[in-house]
Amino acid sequence: RHVAVLMGGRSAEREVSLVSGDACAGALEERGYRVTRIDVGPDLPAVLAELRPDCCFNALHGRFGEDGRVQGLLDLMGIPYTHSGVLASALAMDKPMAKRVFAQAGLACPVGVDMTLGELRGGAPMAPPFVVKPAAEGSSLGVFILTDGDLAPLFERNDVDLEQRVLVERYIPGRELTCAVLDDRPLAVTEIVPREGFYDYRAKYTGGVADHLIPAPVPEEIREKVMEMALIAHRTLGCRGVSRADFRYDTLAEEEQGLYLLEVNTQPGMTPLSLVPEQAAHCGMSFADLVVHLVEEARC
Ligand code: DAL
Ligand code: MG
Repeated sequence: RHVAVLMGGRSAEREVSLVSGDACAGALEERGYRVTRIDVGPDLPAVLAELRPDCCFNALHGRFGEDGRVQGLLDLMGIPYTHSGVLASALAMDKPMAKRVFAQAGLACPVGVDMTLGELRGGAPMAPPFVVKPAAEGSSLGVFILTDGDLAPLFERNDVDLEQRVLVERYIPGRELTCAVLDDRPLAVTEIVPREGFYDYRAKYTGGVADHLIPAPVPEEIREKVMEMALIAHRTLGCRGVSRADFRYDTLAEEEQGLYLLEVNTQPGMTPLSLVPEQAAHCGMSFADLVVHLVEEARC
């Protein structure tokens, strides 16, 4: 079987995707697949038309690769691909839209307001502490935690785009939990403990900067609730293959057991330091088993 691994691309998470893609391609080669690594650019339709792979392994992150656009192209070309389809990808990538869908499903999320940076400059919509995130970005890129409500750090760069859509969200103090769902089965709950600050881009991709504890050392009923919420979120968006839901756990909160769903990632990181491969391993599934499984379940 010939698998084209789609990686790189033009998003801000290009470098992460190159590492994810290379790891997945290596695992497939090890298992005897014929593999072509494709650094995705505007010529992708022509490259695929020439190559005619049996399927695509989607190792892209962020804009174009995680937001339904590449998925739409592959649907049109009739090439089966791994992970979620158009609608689930587009919904999950857009945090304000995903929040609306989660609210409909009864999932607790932090209170949030969807606005442009220009509107935010006119005044914050809530009291601090709050978090400002780009509406559609990954790996914590562009995320600001504003503890005192001072908006100045948001506008320090010269190239600030006031039309940019952001999500302003109540900051949830406490702990960070995450749970992968594979084929409608939650795998495990990991607690992420950054050594300093928060689990930002650097902590995500530098070894030894954050500890991953599996299973998360929280009460059993909290782990169960996280797995249940992750599964509902995966199903509500209509995700396929694997997804990863990220949570905050406020140990002092009285409502909702203190659990808040932040987002679902339909193209979770597949680097050697990533959370999903670790959870799969915890369940007895090696990295290569996971990658092969995703390829065998590829659809369009
Ligand atoms: N956006 C990164 C790749 C993740 O969610 O793992
Ligand atoms: Mg994300």
